[in-house]
Amino acid sequence: MCGIVGYIGEKEAQPILLEGLSKLEYRGYDSAGVAIFNGEWIRVEKSKGRLVDLEGKLKSAGLSGNVGIGHTRWATHGKPSDQNSHPHTDEQSQFAVVHNGIIENYLELKEELIGKGYTFTSETDTEVIAKLLADLNDGDLVSTVQKAVARLHGAYALGVLSVKEPGRLVAVRYASPLVIGLGNGENFIASDIPAILKHTRDVYILEDGEMAILEKDRVQLMKIDGTPVERDTLRVTWDLDKAEKSGYEHFMLKEIYEQPKAIQDTMASRISQEQVDLSQEISLSSQVIQQIDKVQFVACGTAYHAGLVGKYVFEDLTRIPVEVDIASEYRYRNPIITERTLVIVISQSGETADTLAALREAKKAGATVLAITNVVGSSVAREADQVLITWAGPEIAVASTKAYTSQLIAIYLLGTYFAQMRGTCTVEDAKQIVSELTRLPQRVEAILEQSAKIKDFAAQIVNHEHLFFLGRGLDYAVALEGSLKLKEISYIHSEAYAAGELKHGTLALIEEGIPVISLATQRAVYEKMVSNIQEVKARGAYLLGLTVEGDQELQKSVDAVLHLPETLDILSPVLAVVPLQLVAYYACVARGFDVDKPRNLAKSVTVE
Ligand code: F6R
Repeated sequence: MCGIVGYIGEKEAQPILLEGLSKLEYRGYDSAGVAIFNGEWIRVEKSKGRLVDLEGKLKSAGLSGNVGIGHTRWATHGKPSDQNSHPHTDEQSQFAVVHNGIIENYLELKEELIGKGYTFTSETDTEVIAKLLADLNDGDLVSTVQKAVARLHGAYALGVLSVKEPGRLVAVRYASPLVIGLGNGENFIASDIPAILKHTRDVYILEDGEMAILEKDRVQLMKIDGTPVERDTLRVTWDLDKAEKSGYEHFMLKEIYEQPKAIQDTMASRISQEQVDLSQEISLSSQVIQQIDKVQFVACGTAYHAGLVGKYVFEDLTRIPVEVDIASEYRYRNPIITERTLVIVISQSGETADTLAALREAKKAGATVLAITNVVGSSVAREADQVLITWAGPEIAVASTKAYTSQLIAIYLLGTYFAQMRGTCTVEDAKQIVSELTRLPQRVEAILEQSAKIKDFAAQIVNHEHLFFLGRGLDYAVALEGSLKLKEISYIHSEAYAAGELKHGTLALIEEGIPVISLATQRAVYEKMVSNIQEVKARGAYLLGLTVEGDQELQKSVDAVLHLPETLDILSPVLAVVPLQLVAYYACVARGFDVDKPRNLAKSVTVE
């Protein structure tokens, strides 16, 4: 995790780095720091805490210089502290380094360097790189970095400065994202595009095993062994205001309200003549699609919950057996994969380390890998055989919302497309799904209009420390996502249960007044669900129910009810999750926590 930035040009580096870091705080925010080079010496300022703490320090000790690197941290090795913050330097401050990733062999290297007389002031793996650079210094920054990197095992995106080379900034990437921004008389590095978008739209995306040598007027790309690399620049077409709050109090709220558009944009151009047409993006022939005998959805967190919906959708529409795996389990469990297996990895960021590793395992074992991701040019997008982009736009809040609903749309499109190809749904069925899909944006709008009622819902739970979510079928998959959302931002403990399973143990936890959020949108199991609601009501639970417009029954069994617009049962997760996202949001605000940056978390999990 962590975010890095770098600048070389004629302007003052400090404000550019701080501004860039503010766009990367979603990658980690337990400490921050900058190193600024004024042509004579490199000075470092760093601080435990948020970027504002660093800014406070810099107010009294502003650093001047036209070259610099910066870092915002999500602690892996060593607790959040001033000493463990980046940048790190060697003892003589000849080199300064910022790092995103994990150096797996750092202990071995540290012992070796201590044996040579080097002393360490932090507990981090990154300090090893700074000392290694000093140890291997041959007077040339590029070749010194090459030698040092050859000793590293693990993942790294690095920005390196040398006091001997005022006109250069070196960046290296292996298994952690890094982009190079090309300006006019100035150049940039960053872990993600929003950090530099104010200054340039022309970027190179570095690939694993590549490095970039930045001077103010030119950028050279090469492999770590020195082989030159030719690469077209990528022109970024989206706007920075998409990554700003646009008047909303929090990014999460803005992103919840952006869902109608995200859903619309993810569908646009993929529907033609009332059928799903993915032939421009998915180059699997109808014969290959016919031959798929197993689908495995693999992802983490919220994206995994999208995969759970995918199981119901794919099995129902395509009749292909589906497994759903947590990526960190899949990669180590020796899954059964053949050439007829389709592995669908889902990742908003496209950089999640476990998902990427699972993708690689699946490819190695001969599967076709299809990625559903929100980031064009991400590692997952580049390494998968097939890619379906979710056009949700940048998602900044740590708690995923619009990416999830867009992932669901991608799954519906893919499931329907495969069903059309395999003949497992009729033309009429496909038309009906497509027609209902196109109505989802307005239906999500209708739910957002009920936000005051949803806020009242949230008010009923804010003073509780435990609660339950119940659902059956697709409602169970959504309950899991609602529960995760609530936990991660409001810190209220909750559990999601398949409603029929509760009586096999967990019912023992239901006591007077405990809130239970019950989803009853699935018509095929509606009556069973009502019976389960009665079971918890009889034991004193306080019930909040979600059902479909027109249902006048549920309100007789629950304490408060919210009606969702009518849609096909199979599509209801896109609607049912929205009030749950808002409940989590309002509960978090009422409890006074940081909505967009919940404790201990980061947006992009590039460590395993
Ligand atoms: C929760 C959340 C996480 C992510 C997970 C995977 O709100 O956002 O659970 O879904 O870390 O991230 P991606 O989708 O980037 O692979």
